[in-house]
Amino acid sequence: MKFKVLTLFPEMFDGFATSSIMGRAIREEKISFQTIQIRDYTTNKHNRVDDTPYGGGAGMVMQVQPLRDALQTGADHKPGTPVIYLTPKGQPLTQALARDLSQEEEICLVCGHYEGIDQRFIDQHVTHEVSIGDYVLTGGELPAMVLIDTVARLLPGVIGKSVSYEDESHYNGLLEYPHYTRPPEIDGAGIPDVLLSGHHANIEKWRFEESVRLTADRRPDMIQKLLADPDQDEKTKKKVRDLLRTLK
Ligand code: 6GU
Repeated sequence: MKFKVLTLFPEMFDGFATSSIMGRAIREEKISFQTIQIRDYTTNKHNRVDDTPYGGGAGMVMQVQPLRDALQTGADHKPGTPVIYLTPKGQPLTQALARDLSQEEEICLVCGHYEGIDQRFIDQHVTHEVSIGDYVLTGGELPAMVLIDTVARLLPGVIGKSVSYEDESHYNGLLEYPHYTRPPEIDGAGIPDVLLSGHHANIEKWRFEESVRLTADRRPDMIQKLLADPDQDEKTKKKVRDLLRTLK
């Protein structure tokens, strides 16, 4: 998968693209990653990318021309491939959206700044508007990194074992159970006996119960969604309902 990012601050991506899992995935060519400096595509002599809003008001608006040329010339955008504008007005980024996007060959991401971008660029070029949560950031760069990380780790060879994401929070509609590692006791704190029992069925049962308990406590909305989801198997739903009764 190719990720192409239109931004005024490409240096913000340096650590992201060289460190940890993303750094390795890029070096090993499991994904490709490219930033395009929007300012390189200005045609005015002061390299302005923004102007005052029609109708007045505070702030500046990013103009169509540099964005359009950065997309078409800089990113060599292939018509029909997603162009994602990161904005707090967008649809929420979810694991389901990440899974859908992980099927694409190429994704262009557009990072806005100032008050926003000219609506005509959105209408003519943007396929998805995406938000990473209900709070306001100064620009789209951090959200773009969040989206790329979320999508890239679903691709073959990017993280070690596929089991490491099959059990995890949000994958199966529940928050993840607690983890423990050596030593078995530290600073007076032990670990649940079942994890030392070697009894795999009991361990699975304990982990599932802890997941349901934690989710019911912190994210009752996720429990409601799971119980209403026609794609969730009935056996899991019954186990969740039975467990919830014991928790009340
Ligand atoms: Cl995608 N952009 C900005 N500027 N703020 C946000 C956001 C995006 N998602 C949540 N807050």
